[in-house]
Amino acid sequence: MGLFTKDIKTMNDLFVHQLQDIYYAEQQLVKALPKMAEKATEPQLKQGFLTHLDETRTHVKRLEQVFQMHGVAVKAIDCPAIDGIIEEANETVGEVADKAVLDAALINAAQAAEHYEIARYGSLVAWARQLGRTDCASVLQKTLDEEKATDKKLTALAESRVNLRAAS
Ligand SMILES: [Fe+2]
Ligand SMILES: [Fe+2]
Repeated sequence: MGLFTKDIKTMNDLFVHQLQDIYYAEQQLVKALPKMAEKATEPQLKQGFLTHLDETRTHVKRLEQVFQMHGVAVKAIDCPAIDGIIEEANETVGEVADKAVLDAALINAAQAAEHYEIARYGSLVAWARQLGRTDCASVLQKTLDEEKATDKKLTALAESRVNLRAAS
């Protein structure tokens, strides 16, 4: 079911569709984050990926909770956007030989994923409120806050250490 097919008629349909999309994306990130942690050299970056892996597992569980609260089946649908972000990350990372530059590339890839999640969760929270599901909105908001915090930590790490080392 594509985003602009006639299967999506109402805001509720759109809400459920995007829940299924981000549910898939979070599952793909649970698979990708250990690989990113393995490749990272900077200890803080490595630890950061592992911490966010734990959070991401919680994001998957929270989505299952939201599906249940909303009374719909727990279901994932392919999300070509996150597949593309992960695929591109793998390609870029595979081409970088210098370890310090590799860390900078990993941060860049991770932030692309975070920004994707922030965009999706931002809309999901707004739509949940619009649909009168403040219960779902508050669960989704917790994840949105963690995605934003992770994005900020990645920026701080890039600006304080990684970019400096990569450029030297
Ligand atoms: Fe997430
Ligand atoms: Fe995330």
